[in-house]
Amino acid sequence: MTQDERLQPNAAGAPQQAEADTPSAASSAPGEADEHHCEEDVELSGHIIDSLVLPKVLDTILTLGGDFEFLDVRIGRTPTEPSYAKLRVRGRSRDHLQWILAQIGAHGAVPVAPTDCRLQPCERDGVFPDEFYATTNLHTDVRLGGEWIHVQRQEMDCAIRVDPEARTAVCVPMSDVKRGDLIVVGHDGIRVRPQRPSHRAEDAFHFMQSAVSSEKPKRVLVREIAGAMHRARSGHEKILVVGGPAIVHTGSRDHLCRLIREGYVQVLFAGNALAAHDIEQSMFGTSLGISLEHGGPIEEGHEHHLRAINRVRRAGSIAAAVEQGLIRDGIFYECIRHDVPFVLAGSIRDDGPLPDVITDVVEAQRAMRSLIDGVTFCLMIATTLHSIAVGNLLPAETKVVCVDINPATVTKLTDRGSIQTIGLVTDVEPFLNVLVQTLESLRREAATAS
Ligand SMILES: NC(=O)c1ccc[n+]([C@@H]2O[C@H](COP(=O)([O-])OP(=O)(O)OC[C@H]3O[C@@H](n4cnc5c(N)ncnc54)[C@H](O)[C@@H]3O)[C@@H](O)[C@H]2O)c1
Repeated sequence: MTQDERLQPNAAGAPQQAEADTPSAASSAPGEADEHHCEEDVELSGHIIDSLVLPKVLDTILTLGGDFEFLDVRIGRTPTEPSYAKLRVRGRSRDHLQWILAQIGAHGAVPVAPTDCRLQPCERDGVFPDEFYATTNLHTDVRLGGEWIHVQRQEMDCAIRVDPEARTAVCVPMSDVKRGDLIVVGHDGIRVRPQRPSHRAEDAFHFMQSAVSSEKPKRVLVREIAGAMHRARSGHEKILVVGGPAIVHTGSRDHLCRLIREGYVQVLFAGNALAAHDIEQSMFGTSLGISLEHGGPIEEGHEHHLRAINRVRRAGSIAAAVEQGLIRDGIFYECIRHDVPFVLAGSIRDDGPLPDVITDVVEAQRAMRSLIDGVTFCLMIATTLHSIAVGNLLPAETKVVCVDINPATVTKLTDRGSIQTIGLVTDVEPFLNVLVQTLESLRREAATAS
């Protein structure tokens, strides 16, 4: 759940919140006065002015019915100099105040006198303690024995598991906790570092931070995206591509093959359909029975993808089918040839599926998590299901580009709370075509310059 979703008013006009944030029945209800605990001093530091963190915090306090008073403000004089603000936050009751502190905590507001985080053991495998702290995709620290510890593998909608002896903290999904694991509960001793937008003129992710629109100058945007991918690869960073079958249906798979061959793809995530239609094209020259040569239907072509899946099942895996010469080109051929790992996650509409498809979705998520470490750039192309699934796994600092012909897909992605997401509403073919050409020019320019 994003911060914005948490603040959506419900039918009664009160802000909604995650169940774990809801004051317990045993404590005083929001609105019930408890004057001794109704205020707390918090501080914010860093680039809180230019990244609009401070106004967001003030707005959140007022939207939730609280009040504030500035105790100290120091504004950085240059873009690199950090700013500082100390605020007294007031709520109607202790629980109301705790609720406000939890919400502004997600923007980086930390109590002046922070306490350690609170830990509770899981009572059984796969179940968090009731009051578990639900994570965001933002950089988070927890306080343990008076020291702040960085939370590893940041991911939204998880809990934080702490090993007090090793002094480590890590995001853990519900399905992966074990009985006895120590989980952070409540909001004490948690510090969230908001994402700062880049202000470098050449950074596409600064340039394009605005509402998703189908009416943007595409070539300019694609050039910016190509620049970001080129810089990522020049720094040996990992690029993840998430793709849907429209890449094959629109005749764009050669563009993606080229990106793989030229080293712009380090990991590929997809479902059964992308692989099935890619292999169908390799074996039959069609995609969903439509000839990719002349664009017309082929007799019994609608069965081609089933026959392709069947042949790969007989071979045992896509890699085995490549080794046996059954697949001689295409996206997955290039992945196998260039050692690009891929995860094919299953869905209820899959035919076959191909033997490489992981049909247990929890296992598929685990496989994806095992490959996203170190990914700094993610290109999502023409798949709602897999784009949103992968978006949920990535930390906010990973740059994401989502390309889809339907604005709703792109909006869903950009709404998830990361300012580092670019949405591009366009057909996949012209997008990939221009991307590949632009990357080629950048490579030539770099080769000439060196
Ligand atoms: N035969 C099969 O086994 C089969 C067939 C289809 C889907 N599936 C599976 O079902 C799941 C969901 O499939 P999905 O991700 O394809 O569906 P999806 O509906 O989640 O996403 C498809 C996306 O492609 C976009 N799109 C379509 N044409 C486009 C174009 N020309 N340019 C840009 N975007 C375009 C759509 O707007 C949509 O957002 C996947 O796991 C997939 O593997 C299986």
